[in-house]
Amino acid sequence: MQMTDIIAKKRDGEELSTEEIAFMIKGYTKGDIPDYQMSAMCMAIMLRGMSDRETLDMTMSMTNSGETLDLSPIKGVKADKHSTGGVGDKTSLILCPMVSACGMKVAKMSGRGLGHTGGTIDKLESFPGFTTDMTEEQFYKNVNDIGIAIMGQTADLVPADKKIYALRDVTGTVPSIPLIVSSIMSKKLASGSDVIVLDVKCGSGAFMKTQDDAEKLARGLTRIGRLAGRKCAAVITDMDQPLGHAVGNALEVKEAISVLRGEEKGDLLELCLTLGGLMLTEGGFADSIEKAREMMLETISNGKALNKLAEMVAAQHGDNSAVFETSLLPEAKYKIPVYSTEAGYVRGIQAEQVGLVSMHLGGGRATKDSEIDLAVGVVLNKKIGDHVYDGELLGTIHANDERKGREAVELLRKCYRFSSENHSRPKFIKDIVR
Ligand code: URA
Repeated sequence: MQMTDIIAKKRDGEELSTEEIAFMIKGYTKGDIPDYQMSAMCMAIMLRGMSDRETLDMTMSMTNSGETLDLSPIKGVKADKHSTGGVGDKTSLILCPMVSACGMKVAKMSGRGLGHTGGTIDKLESFPGFTTDMTEEQFYKNVNDIGIAIMGQTADLVPADKKIYALRDVTGTVPSIPLIVSSIMSKKLASGSDVIVLDVKCGSGAFMKTQDDAEKLARGLTRIGRLAGRKCAAVITDMDQPLGHAVGNALEVKEAISVLRGEEKGDLLELCLTLGGLMLTEGGFADSIEKAREMMLETISNGKALNKLAEMVAAQHGDNSAVFETSLLPEAKYKIPVYSTEAGYVRGIQAEQVGLVSMHLGGGRATKDSEIDLAVGVVLNKKIGDHVYDGELLGTIHANDERKGREAVELLRKCYRFSSENHSRPKFIKDIVR
């Protein structure tokens, strides 16, 4: 088999065989196929697309390119969640304890933040001592004992994706639906859960700019999940502003805790209830989304979800006192108010730009080896639909470096778009794909 022939076949719009796809993924992962040939293939896939059968073959070849987790030592139905990348997205910190408090096992592999998007592991490291570094046996034991554990991705999980994603990043081939589906689903399948729910972001700051494309991606992801034998559902959500109010690691933990205490509602809680509703119904823990919502809201009002977070933090060597006393979380030295220089209704808040403000303050990574400051970030006072007077508080910059904090003030102002009328906001949860 020759890679040149396989590239030409895809270039001409033909369907690749299972063997050809396996040859290409294995060869590229091992280093036998050079970057220039794989780049040409990614572009051919981007332009010509792939059938479901090809996408499934590519996903399975990628899944099997490295180590896979066998979660069979964990008793019961295991759930996992993935988001295609949000700003201020702290849903895992709320959803996972809530669902676990309803009796479902959460065995989640999470990542660290990169660029303008945050990562669950960084956020959880706001609890001193917290670690996701554990053996598989310890991970299984924690999930069996307390119903929840969050682990970092093992180095050898889907090595094919690490290479292909890096190549796509520099060849203009990131927004290809079959390539995104195989990238996301290979990692989810390798992580071994029975139920996978996906949050597909849609809008200017997301991979998928239109609802049409987001629907295509959500259908692609759920179809491949089901074809691979997993229960799978997706939610399509608007990314016309950051999720919730806080962007920055410890600040997001604090916000997640207030949701778990029942002190905060809005889009963030709504998304967690929807994702959790899908998890619990797909996993057979509730007959309907409505029933699942009731169960989850009960775990908030009786404190079980918050206690579950505390149990998980303690089981992973973290000091969980901050779960009950959030003033113990890392706190920035300077809190700089940002006042509006315009009046009107907030029409949009560029999520990606707000993520970059947090990164400017030191809260995000420019490269995967950058150090981050857990205390810094942004808290937004005004969200879409709110009326703002000239001189009114838009948000607060939390900084440890005063100069960077001052620079961030102007950067945050520029993220806001105003309108003289209060246009009706597009629906936040645009669709559910099952
Ligand atoms: N997230 C991934 O893991 N892969 C993609 O291709 C896009 C988003």
